[in-house]
Amino acid sequence: MTTGKFITFEGIDGAGKSTHLSFVAELLRARNKTVVVTREPGGTSLGEQLREILLHEKMHLETEALLMFAARREHIAQVIAPALERGDWVISDRFTDATFAYQGGGRKLERAKLDALEQWVHPHLQPDLTLLFDVPLDVARARLDATRTLDKFEQEKADFFAATRAEYLRRASEFPQRFHVIDSTQAIPTIQQQLRAIVAGIDA
Ligand code: TMP
Repeated sequence: MTTGKFITFEGIDGAGKSTHLSFVAELLRARNKTVVVTREPGGTSLGEQLREILLHEKMHLETEALLMFAARREHIAQVIAPALERGDWVISDRFTDATFAYQGGGRKLERAKLDALEQWVHPHLQPDLTLLFDVPLDVARARLDATRTLDKFEQEKADFFAATRAEYLRRASEFPQRFHVIDSTQAIPTIQQQLRAIVAGIDA
């Protein structure tokens, strides 16, 4: 029986992860996988409604963390778990590492609270592979400024993103078996070459 794998894309705003998401999905499809591409917060009708609120309304940091996990609970129930059970591959643009990085690192919510929520919401589910797109803050900021109207998170200051990035990198060294850190300042074809090798490695 073939089993699906769960791949997550992470990085601070402006790190350039979304550019590479469809590339990886196509790589997998070329290897005859059925691929479900989804995102957090979001991925379900309820999750997308929560996304609107999360990205645009100010709220207490614990409310923010709880809503992220509420959206995630629905996302796992409706999308991620059924897809993996069918043997599909799931690519999610962000997952729980983002909550540790943004609400834990950026907003300084105690890690123990996030550990408890993670244990509650998905005690047995972890990504098989997490691609962390890493860039210095000034590069990320320049990319954001070049795009569009900024949401609540994107409007945060440099120290917020420095703490978010640091927490991502800390998690990458805590879970080296599933994390791949990609230097996202490199040229797109160079990154694509690395992604090809990583994908071949987990689909061996
Ligand atoms: P996106 O712009 O990459 O789609 O992500 C939406 C924003 O939500 C981004 O600024 C990161 C933030 N976010 C959190 O703060 N915590 C989370 O758990 C997730 C999934 C996203």
